Order: sequence, then C-alpha cells, then structure tokens
Amino acid sequence: MMDHMGKQQEEPAGTTARQVLKQATDSDHRALEALPCMATLLAADVSRGAYARVLAAFYTLHDVLEPHAARAAGRAACLDGRRRAALAADLEELGLAAAPPRPPSLPAFDGAAPALGACYVIEGSLLGAPVISAHLRRHLGAQLPLRYFGAANIDAAARWQQFLAQLESDLPTPRARGEAVDGARRTYRWLHALLASVPGPASAAP
Ligand code: HEM
Repeated sequence: MMDHMGKQQEEPAGTTARQVLKQATDSDHRALEALPCMATLLAADVSRGAYARVLAAFYTLHDVLEPHAARAAGRAACLDGRRRAALAADLEELGLAAAPPRPPSLPAFDGAAPALGACYVIEGSLLGAPVISAHLRRHLGAQLPLRYFGAANIDAAARWQQFLAQLESDLPTPRARGEAVDGARRTYRWLHALLASVPGPASAAP
C-alpha cells in the first residue's frame, strides 16, 4: 500500500487485497454516507422524490463508470448490466422525472489493478444495499419499487464472494494492491462529485 508520500508501505504477512482496500477507503466511504443526498435517503422523512434522485445518480454510476472500469480491468468482472437494468425498472415504475446527473470527468485507470480497485467500490456497494432497502421499505411502504437496493435480480452474497476470490488472485503483490487502492480512491472521489451534485433536503419535495 502507498502512504501519503507515495512510498510503498510494508504489509503484514497474510494481508488480503480486500483488507487493504477496505482500510484504505474507509474514510472515503464514510464521506459518501455523509453527503446530503445520502443522509436524506436514510432519514425518516425520506420522500419518493429524494429516492428517485439517488437512483438516477446510481444509474450514471452503472451506465458510465462501470463499463469504463470493467474495460480497463480487462474483464467483465463488474459488468453484466443487471444492476443497471434493475435501476432503470425502478425509475420507470416510480414514474418521477429524475434525470441521471451528468457524470464528472472519468478517472484514468492506468492498467488492470487500478481498475480492479474501481470494481471493488462498485461491487462492494452491494453490501450496504440491505440497510438502505430495509429503511426505504419501512418508511415508503412495501409497494416501493426496490429492485436495485433489494438486489432483486442477483444473488448478492454469492456474487460478492466470487468477486473477492477473483480479486485476491488478480492482486497478488503489495504493488498491485497499492495500485488498486489508488483506483478505488479515484473512484470514490468521482462518486463523491457525482453524488454531491444531487440535491439534498433543501429541495426534498415531492
Ligand atoms: C448511505 C449509503 C451507504 C450505506 C448506508 C452503506 C453501508 C454499508 C455497509 C453496512 C457496508 C458493510 C460493512 C461491513 O459489513 O463490513 C458497506 C460496505 C461497502 N460499501 Fe457502502 N454504504 C453506502 C453507500 C455506498 C456507496 C455509494 C458505495 C459505492 C458505490 C459503497 C461502497 C461500499 C464498499 C466498497 C463496501 C465494502 C467494504 C468492504 O467490506 O470491503 N457504499 N456499506
């Protein structure tokens, strides 16, 4: 892993790529959760409109960044279109006008390892989805279209385990893991800019 001076740090023996990525991106993840649109999504007075706006932003993630990362990773690890399809169906059923936000300029992934870091961020977002879907169902009702956050069309646990197994074999060295961290952090910065453009509580109507 790189330290903040760009130097390679020692890794304890047995460290996994997932441990390195999780630890290095913990603060980025927390910063995303704290953004106004995400905090609004998790508030008790969340509206269907606020939900639709977040879904539309995630559409931009899966429509634009996911194929970019999967191409640079050299495999279809995080690209099968199912999560994007679930999003599109939810948005259509909600019937609210929520245009996907314009994407910030795409991060450059110089090689497969940084792109795999991006795939880690995209795939890992499945882990928070049950928390979000339970909250939305509780506050907006059982009839709410929740294909995306409910992972309706995928076996999320199996998919994540499969992804992690592949990740460990694709990032066998501290150097590769350091590059993956760099790609993951660039991805979090891109997401931060994307989600920061989504209105929060000030315009929470309807
Ligand atoms: C308010 C929104 C969010 C909530 C409440 C949330 C919550 C969570 C939770 C509960 C976990 C599981 C932690 C664990 O079991 O150790 C998790 C993991 C993760 N989330 Fe989020 N998350 C949110 C947004 C996002 C977004 C937008 C992304 C990226 C697109 C993301 C990426 C990840 C990643 C990569 C992990 C896996 C970390 C690891 O265990 O390796 N999350 N999140």
